[in-house]
Amino acid sequence: MISFKHVSKSYTGTEKAVNDVNFEVEKGEIVIFLGPSGCGKTTLLRMVNRLETISEGSVLINGEDIGNLNEIELRRNIGYVIQSNGLFPNMDIEENVTIVPDLLGWDKKKKHNRYKELMQLIGLDPMEYRKRFPNELSGGQQQRIGVIRALAADPPVMLMDEPFGALDPLIREKIQDEFLQIQREVKKTILFVSHDIDEAIKMADKIVLMRDGEIMQYGTPSDILIHPKNEYVSQFIGRDRAIKHLSLRTIAQLQEEIGLVEIDQSIVDSKQVNIHENLKDTLAMLLNQEADQVIVHDDNDEVQGAITIDRVQRYLHLEMRQKPSQTVEKEKVME
Ligand SMILES: Nc1ncnc2c1ncn2[C@@H]1O[C@H](COP(=O)(O)OP(=O)(O)O)[C@@H](O)[C@H]1O
Ligand SMILES: [Mg+2]
Repeated sequence: MISFKHVSKSYTGTEKAVNDVNFEVEKGEIVIFLGPSGCGKTTLLRMVNRLETISEGSVLINGEDIGNLNEIELRRNIGYVIQSNGLFPNMDIEENVTIVPDLLGWDKKKKHNRYKELMQLIGLDPMEYRKRFPNELSGGQQQRIGVIRALAADPPVMLMDEPFGALDPLIREKIQDEFLQIQREVKKTILFVSHDIDEAIKMADKIVLMRDGEIMQYGTPSDILIHPKNEYVSQFIGRDRAIKHLSLRTIAQLQEEIGLVEIDQSIVDSKQVNIHENLKDTLAMLLNQEADQVIVHDDNDEVQGAITIDRVQRYLHLEMRQKPSQTVEKEKVME
C-alpha cells in the first residue's frame, strides 16, 4: 500500500539523512522505524506527508506517487501524531479533536457524534471533557487526545513520531495497550517512529531498523530477534534477545511444538495460568520463584498440563536454532 523506492534525503552538504531506502508497507500494518537518535527516522516519516521534500526517489501510496498529489488532499488522508501532542492550548478538547472534520466542512451534529465516539474509544467521558482545555489534562490524557484527533477524519494512513515517548513507563505501557486495542478496530496503515526496542517488539508488525540513514534490516520482530542480519542489528537488540523473543510467544505455541509436562503433584508451589499467556511473563513467574511449576488452563478452564523452567528453555533453544537457510536446504534435498 505504501512503497518507498530509492528514497534519499539530503538537507545540506553531502551527508545524507536518508540514503536509498526501499521497502513496502501492507495495508493495515504497523511498521516501526527503529534506531538511535539522528539515524533519519523522523526525516523518513515526514517525507510521507511532504513535510519534508524528497531529494531522490519516490514514495507511492496505493500506486500513486505522492509528489503528484495535492498537498492539502494528501495531508487530509494522513493522520499525524507527534510526541509533544501538538494540541492547540486555546481550543477546548472538543474543538481540538474536531479540527480536521471542521476544515472538511462536516456539520455540527456529525462532528459532535464523531467527538463522542472517539472519546469513548479512549475511555474518557465526552461530556466531562468537552469544554476543558489541554493544560487541564494529564500528559497521558493529552497524548490520547492527540491520537484521536489524528483519527478524527478517519484517514487510512497514520504517521506517529514517538507518540508515547514523553510519558512515564507505566502510563506508556497502558497507552500502548489501548492503542493496539484501537488499531484492532480501526485497522489503519501506521508508520511509527520509536527508538525503544521493547516498544517496537510489542507494537510492530514489521520493523525498519535504521542506522545513518540506511536500513540495516526490515522484518517482523521475530525475524529480527531470531535472525539478526549483521553485527549492528545484534548489538542493537542486545544480549537478551532470546528473552525478548519469548514475549512474542504463548504457552499455546509451546504446547503445539513440544507439548506441556504432566503436573507434578508433589510440588506445593504451583500457579495457575491461562494458555494464551506469553512465555516471557510465564518464565518470569518461574524465575522469580513465585512457583516451581505453572499449571496451564485453557479458555474453558480445563487443565492442560504444566510448564517448568526446563520446558521454556527447551522451546527457546529449538526456536533460536531454526535458520531459514536450513529450511531451504531441506527443500532442496527433497527435490
Ligand atoms: N531540518 C534539518 N536541517 C538539517 N539537518 C537536519 C534537519 N532535520 C534533521 N537533520 C539531520 O538529519 C539527520 C536525521 O535526523 P532525524 O530524521 O531527525 O533523525 P531521528 O528522527 O532518527 O532522530 C540528523 O543528522 C539530523 O541532524
Ligand atoms: Mg526523530
